[in-house]
Amino acid sequence: MFLRNYWYVAAYDHEVSARPMRRLLLGEPVVLYRLEDATPVALEDRCAHRHLPLSMGKLVGDTLQCHYHGLRYDRTGTCVRVPGQETIPRSARVKSYPVAERYHWLWIWMGDPALADPRTIPDFHWFDDPAWGAKGEYLHVKSNWQLIVDNLLDLTHLAFVHDTTIGNAALVDQANVKVQRSQDGVVVTRWIIDAPAPPTFVKAGGFTGNVDRWQIIDFGPPAFLRLDVGATPTGTGAPEGRRVGGIGMRNLNAITPETEATSHYFWGQAHNWDVNNPRTTDMIIEQIRTAFLQDVEVFEAQQRNLDAIADPPQTDINADAGVIQARRVLDRLYAEEQVAAKQVAAE
Ligand code: FES
Ligand SMILES: [Fe+2]
Repeated sequence: MFLRNYWYVAAYDHEVSARPMRRLLLGEPVVLYRLEDATPVALEDRCAHRHLPLSMGKLVGDTLQCHYHGLRYDRTGTCVRVPGQETIPRSARVKSYPVAERYHWLWIWMGDPALADPRTIPDFHWFDDPAWGAKGEYLHVKSNWQLIVDNLLDLTHLAFVHDTTIGNAALVDQANVKVQRSQDGVVVTRWIIDAPAPPTFVKAGGFTGNVDRWQIIDFGPPAFLRLDVGATPTGTGAPEGRRVGGIGMRNLNAITPETEATSHYFWGQAHNWDVNNPRTTDMIIEQIRTAFLQDVEVFEAQQRNLDAIADPPQTDINADAGVIQARRVLDRLYAEEQVAAKQVAAE
């Protein structure tokens, strides 16, 4: 199941250059490249002539030339040259996708181009904001995208999967959890009051005693999760909004389905102390990457079982409240898209 009428992250801005690059997004082969003035372009990665990936070709000026028989396409996906003939067949065109650059990501619109509005790109300003130090990374994951969304909405797994990094038992035993619906999204708020800080937090924040720790997970469809996390020495008023003397971070996640069983996972971390010190940023990224690789191992093992057993029954527990809400939102949005697509097809 893929939602189409949404912006997705296709790549980091630095990945896209004058050298065409192939990426499979929502099951569709896409070629990404830049024109001479650096404008990014996304076209279907399949020549209209005999299906060779256009990403095997090269740019000639601002046209993309197929490697096989030399058809050239402009940025709209229209063929503008067929070697050895004057007329260009009307069918010689490939799909083009709306794109936008923001927050060091190249965003792509996979649905009806008429609906693409860059104002609806979700906010990831922490990557650009001088008040934060931040860095982004990429992981290729051999699992369905929704398993990653589920994981980030239920942080009780930190106590088990990440007990050597960002988790400890207090996360499950002492957490006060609230699940709320936002407009087309879900917010899960967790407070852990007067508990020991986990290993990463001790390293980053230098805490010597217990802390008040928050995890506020903001989920928006299809697969954007912005986690506001941090801790302050216990009793200093963080739950009332006074976040002083501690550390605050944003864990930023954008997941783009590659296929039903594989995903592109763009993630990053922003921190609000020592913001101009790349060594601090790198240290935090290292810690989170270690934790995320522990997650990837889980996702891929889950997927192997889901591949082996079609639609297995599953049990829900209280910790799934946010996961279940998010799945409901996604199911509703998917059903709405299907109805709308059928109406368009019938017109
Ligand atoms: S396959 Fe592209 S020109 Fe023939
Ligand atoms: Fe995790």
